[in-house]
Amino acid sequence: MNFRDVMALAKRRGILQAAYEPYGGVAGFFDYGPVGVRLRRKIIELWRQHFVLGFGALEIDSALIGPESLFKASGHLSEFDDLLVECLECNKLYRADLLVEGGGALDRDGIAVALAGKKCESCGGKFDVPRPFNLMFSTNVGAGRGTPSYLRPETAQGIFQAFPWLLRQNRGKLPLAAAQVGRAFRNEIAPRQGPLRLREFTQLELEHFFLPNDEPELPNPLESIEINLVPAKGKKKSTTVGNALSSGIVDSSLVATHLARTQNFLTSLGVAKDKLRFRQHRANEMAHYSSDCWDGEIYTSLGWVEVVGVAHRGDYDLSAHDSSSSKEFRVPLPGTEKEREVWVPNIGKLGKEFKGKAKSILEAIKNVDIEPDISIKANGKTIVLSEEYLSQKTERGSEMVFPYVVEPSFGLDRILYCLLESSWKRDGEREWISLPQETSPYDLLVAPLMTKDRLDEKAQEILQSALDMGVDAYYDEAGSIGRRYARADEIGIFFSMTIDHQTLEDGTVTLRERDSKNQNRLSIEDALDKVRR
Ligand code: GLY
Repeated sequence: MNFRDVMALAKRRGILQAAYEPYGGVAGFFDYGPVGVRLRRKIIELWRQHFVLGFGALEIDSALIGPESLFKASGHLSEFDDLLVECLECNKLYRADLLVEGGGALDRDGIAVALAGKKCESCGGKFDVPRPFNLMFSTNVGAGRGTPSYLRPETAQGIFQAFPWLLRQNRGKLPLAAAQVGRAFRNEIAPRQGPLRLREFTQLELEHFFLPNDEPELPNPLESIEINLVPAKGKKKSTTVGNALSSGIVDSSLVATHLARTQNFLTSLGVAKDKLRFRQHRANEMAHYSSDCWDGEIYTSLGWVEVVGVAHRGDYDLSAHDSSSSKEFRVPLPGTEKEREVWVPNIGKLGKEFKGKAKSILEAIKNVDIEPDISIKANGKTIVLSEEYLSQKTERGSEMVFPYVVEPSFGLDRILYCLLESSWKRDGEREWISLPQETSPYDLLVAPLMTKDRLDEKAQEILQSALDMGVDAYYDEAGSIGRRYARADEIGIFFSMTIDHQTLEDGTVTLRERDSKNQNRLSIEDALDKVRR
């Protein structure tokens, strides 16, 4: 299956189509239909099993719009851009790196040099000098001019800004893993390839925080997992995760852990191991917040497609929010607790002497290490606080440090596309989606052979029992049974159950398995037991 086939079938079968079709569509936005929504839910549920439930992660759902101050701190306002270039003749705009062969591997100067010899694909005109284009969608919150704000470009910032709160929920303990599933928005210059480059997309992100001197080790059961690695330097290699870590190809045990978990998750969805690799970013392609990043890529008809990035973000985000906000994002380093003498303001004396101004003096020395004769600015005036306004006390305190974070960040829409392409099978006239039952849109088709002789009533009764048992069942009574099987195959329903006259006599049904087309005669109970996951 190639890209066009997949997209045509996805539209026909109610999986996804370009959004706002009656209005001519808007590039970079897609609507998911009834079958697509089920596929998405199945992928999300499996992800939650791997990265949230089986992991003790705290799951949150943060706001989609954030204030400018947040994205100034996170670096997205100044750094989160692509290089835009305009044709001087026809004014067409292009993403500069896409016009240059190997543009992804070049830095900005390299792209600018390579563009000098290029002509506009549309009119043959010359290009202007490329310039950065920020990828965030901006808006204003509130009436009038409002407050400048942005749609979040990654769900991660919602977790980082909530770190002090999450740490409290975790009773101050590290490591702490926080997860979020949600939409993110990027005003891509040239969205193409359908769900592979969207302006609105869904991320499945986990932020795994730990103390810099106490990085979680690679768990034993993950050590022997074989993965395909393409390091930034050196040759590509298939090896075990344990080996990749001990030989230094991967230099963080938590990154190694998440590479292994990522592979487990993707293969459980139905991705073939030999179509999956992890490619390390070169220094010039790394996001502004990363110190190391491995992309999980799946091989498709379009080449290798990145579906996940496993990034080491160090303390970039927490220290940025610490210095730009009013909250403390550092944590006490265990084992460093000790007593020390500190100076504190003598509030009574300050009040007596400075009266109404005392409040602004206290505000000015909040979070400051004070000592006698410290010079401070309050109400626009410089005030020297001599010893008489201070007292000494003994405080117990620890060295404070910023936790580090490792982040596996998945793109749901890309995963879904890759799964569709790899699982869509064709054999003559027959077409089917061959996904494992866990990710199939439905477990079961319930189909009466015909709608007379009360077969439909019996089928409805079985449908209800199946739904009551938690089976994702789908009812279809329209057309020949062969046609119904074909329709069920095309949307990937894992089993089909046919109710016929014998069902009324002895309580047995025919259960057909999608991929093999094998049919078995079973009691209703045994059939439902087999279908139930
Ligand atoms: N949080 C990683 C990303 O958005 O790519």
